[in-house]
Amino acid sequence: MYRTHTCGELRIEQINQSVTLSGWVQKIRNLGGMTFVDLRDRYGITQLVFNEETHKDLCEQANSLGREFVIQVKGQVAERSNKNTKIPTGEIEILVDKLTILNTSELPPFTIEDETDGGDELRMKYRYLDLRRNPVRENLVLRHKIGFEVRSFLDKLNFIETETPVLIKSTPEGARDFIVPSRMNEGQFYALPQSPQVFKQLLMVAGFDRYFQIVKCFRDEDLRADRQPEFTQIDCEMAFVNQEDILNTFEEMTKHLFKTIKGIDMTFDFPQLSYEDAMTYYGSDKPDIRFEMKFVDITSDMSTSGFKVFEEAGYVGGICAEGCAGYTRKQLDKLTDFVKKPQIGANGLIYIKYNEDGTVKSSIDKFFSADQLKSLGEKFNAKAGDLVLILAGARKKMLNALGELRLEMGSRLGLRDKNKFSPMWVVDFPLLEWDEDGQRFHAMHHPFTAPKQSDRELLETDPGKVRANAYDLVINGVEIGGGSIRIFNDELQQQMFKILGFTEEEAENQFGFLMNAFKYGAPPHGGVAFGFDRLVSLFAGIDSIRDVIAFPKNNSGRDVMIDSPAQVSKDQLDELKIAQIEIKK
Ligand code: AMO
Repeated sequence: MYRTHTCGELRIEQINQSVTLSGWVQKIRNLGGMTFVDLRDRYGITQLVFNEETHKDLCEQANSLGREFVIQVKGQVAERSNKNTKIPTGEIEILVDKLTILNTSELPPFTIEDETDGGDELRMKYRYLDLRRNPVRENLVLRHKIGFEVRSFLDKLNFIETETPVLIKSTPEGARDFIVPSRMNEGQFYALPQSPQVFKQLLMVAGFDRYFQIVKCFRDEDLRADRQPEFTQIDCEMAFVNQEDILNTFEEMTKHLFKTIKGIDMTFDFPQLSYEDAMTYYGSDKPDIRFEMKFVDITSDMSTSGFKVFEEAGYVGGICAEGCAGYTRKQLDKLTDFVKKPQIGANGLIYIKYNEDGTVKSSIDKFFSADQLKSLGEKFNAKAGDLVLILAGARKKMLNALGELRLEMGSRLGLRDKNKFSPMWVVDFPLLEWDEDGQRFHAMHHPFTAPKQSDRELLETDPGKVRANAYDLVINGVEIGGGSIRIFNDELQQQMFKILGFTEEEAENQFGFLMNAFKYGAPPHGGVAFGFDRLVSLFAGIDSIRDVIAFPKNNSGRDVMIDSPAQVSKDQLDELKIAQIEIKK
């Protein structure tokens, strides 16, 4: 038997017991006459003691151990004279009388401690060592628990977990596909699923009624902190439901997870905000509503103000930052630099300080009287001590820029507390999105999303105005999930493909199987997919989803540990009938 107990298990109650422990050497301290070794496993740390007086050879052996050696010890549990209250096993130690080295270890390239000295790239290269560290392992334990709760919740509601294939044909989720050559079908390729979208719809046609799957999805897109090329969804679909049924079911699931995992009782209904309002008040389709600071649109009030910058702008609007009237010139310059960054795109920032002493100071004093600025302040509900920040320019760009500025101010003011959770549904997304470059429409969610019944006629006359039965679950400004009610009628589906610029032939080629299935009694259906990695990182209070994935890719989509992607041998390519050509740059 390698062990009778784990390294996190023994307590004062087990004093005098003979035990066997196995684990990794965390730390060795030789205090002259006594050697102390911290033995670690997944469950904790136990202190081992080697006494030179009574066990000279053993003590020498202990002094020769290195960090991360794998050892087995036998000994007796004893009460510690110098107790460590920081760890659960801190009241005891093991007086060792037998030591076996099960394996040696090279010196690890970084310290296996909660706070390590290893940089990102090094830790990724030696991910199996990084995973020995508590914070990283705890994230994966959390991931396991969330997955377990999801399964148990959905199982009780009669959802069936069903696997769907990975070698498929392109699915239209908006990103590029990863493709896989087929040896048996020369010149042809599989695509990896961007999501199991079409399969879950086919399962509804098959009468499965309630499906879910915790499933890997693959998207070849530019990576960010919350995007990985392969990521996991909690993918769900239901038949005979409308939007309300789906929102209710998955709001309950979200509440269940908060309750069981975080001990948080969410007794309120999640607020619902239309896409239109989300953009108007927060400049984002994933607003962080942990704090208010809603936009105030003063475009029409300013259209005859005599101030050209305001009069000529498509949009003039701002936010009120409470208690920030004391901002210095330097602080305001920094904010101005922030909004002028190319990715934010404002030309400048206008401020109005409503000072505590009742005076008003602004960057537009030359153009507006104090009284005018005061009445402008009323529109923002600005009180003495507040700072109003205004942007003017093209509407879409300014809404986005103001959204970024709002988040920046929220962060500066400490309003984005990681322990506060503000979930919401964003609903009524537009069905289509106009692509200026391609001069065509794209599906905002995906081509299977149903238009709102009330907007059906606009499909012919003004497709850009049609709203969809589509929704996103947003928590703390992160898009955690998204879904829609689907088209389940092949005529409407064909019309949709046409609007999206597919010829009949292309639609038939790519989605003929789905439209065919719809001819055999497709029930009304809809669904949602949660970004599992994003959900776990939200619960863990961390920003990057990499930290909740056992073996993630870096920002260039590489796995630096196994060194992938990599070239393949000429033989493999020959077998696939693929020739590589060199493209001169
Ligand atoms: P969507 O494309 O909105 O919907 O994806 C669902 C959720 O998956 C997460 N997500 C990602 N997470 C990490 N890395 C990525 N690259 C990534 N891309 C998406 C997000 C997102 O909300 N088939 C539809 C769902 C449906 O209609 O039922 C779909 O995939 O949290």
